[in-house]
Order: sequence, then structure tokens, then C-alpha cells
Amino acid sequence: MKHIAIFASGTGSNARKIVDYFRDNEHVKVNLIISNNANAPVLEMAKDNGIDTFIINRDYFYDSTQILSELNTFAIDFIALAGFLWLIPTYLVNAYNQAIVNIHPALLPKYGGKGMYGMNVHKAVYEAKEKETGITIHFVNEKYDEGAIIFQATCSISPEDTPKEIAKKVLQLEHQYFSKVIDDILMTTNK
Ligand code: GRF
Repeated sequence: MKHIAIFASGTGSNARKIVDYFRDNEHVKVNLIISNNANAPVLEMAKDNGIDTFIINRDYFYDSTQILSELNTFAIDFIALAGFLWLIPTYLVNAYNQAIVNIHPALLPKYGGKGMYGMNVHKAVYEAKEKETGITIHFVNEKYDEGAIIFQATCSISPEDTPKEIAKKVLQLEHQYFSKVIDDILMTTNK
């Protein structure tokens, strides 16, 4: 059995999709949700699904390596970042080599990097009058949005789409593909 931890600090719609996708899976189990926001709605979803949660703060995450023991306690093999905005520290990248993935709401390498999250991304795409956008699922390294790209999917943008409409199209792609891509990685690697 492979165990996944999801790091999420917001609404958690992607986290919910992942939990739903693997609910009856015999080989993969989501058994921990980690958040840096004690009020994040994602924690309610975890509670409703009987999944353990763990709240972290900056000192704990950056000035200690204690989270590794926590992940160990839950026998975590793989980490999915779903709306988690903090940079992953080197000790964690090294401990989970090629076993941390992030989903980014644009076609990297465009519209990535520090500050490029949520509506900031969609507004930038809109202002640049892009004709298409999409999602990128990538391995995580010590830099924002720079790890190796695993998967991308695109959607077209029509001239009348507002940033909000672009966000909606992109979120739909995220929900469609993220769990499946995680499943594929877990099936094809020994992570
Ligand atoms: C998604 O757009 C994802 O690409 C980004 O954060 C957002 C999370 O949304 N990394 P949700 O919390 O899963 O609804």
C-alpha cells in the first residue's frame, strides 16, 4: 500500500478530488493532510473523510526537520501539493526525491515563479491576451515551479473570457487530471 500526504492550504477542491479518486483503491491511500492554515476549508473535508490532519508553522517547517518524523509516522511515500504556497525546503525535497508533485494553474515555464498563484496567474494570462492556457503537473524542487514537468493539458481562451472564466476552465482541467496523473506516477515508479 502506498500512502499519500496532501499539502493544501485553501479550499481544497483538488484535495477532495484526490481523496474521492483513491477512496476505494487497494494500493493507494490518502492518509494525511498537512496545512499551514488552521482555518483552511480543506481541513473540514479531511475530517469528514476521517483523514488525519496536521498544521504546520514556518519555524517548524523551515527551522526543523520534524515534519519528516510526522511523515514517517504515517508511512508517507508520496506528497501532492494542492494549493500549498510555501516553498518546499531542501531537506524535504531530498527526503522525497521525485516523490513530491505540484499542480500549477498555467502552462509552465510561462506564468510561474514567486507570486504566481491563484488569480495572479489568470490575470497575467488574460493581460497577455493568450489564446490558450492550461495546467502543469511537475515534480517539486527547491525553486518555485521549476521541477521537471510531468504532464500538461491545455484549454483555449476566447476573447470574451474574463480572468475568472479562465480560472474556471483551468480548475476543471485540474480536477480532471491531477488524481489520474498521481495514480500513473505511483503505478510506474516505485515511489
Ligand atoms: C489550484 O488552482 C492549484 O493549481 C493551485 O492552487 C489552487 C488550489 O485550489 N496550486 P483548490 O484549493 O484545490 O481548490
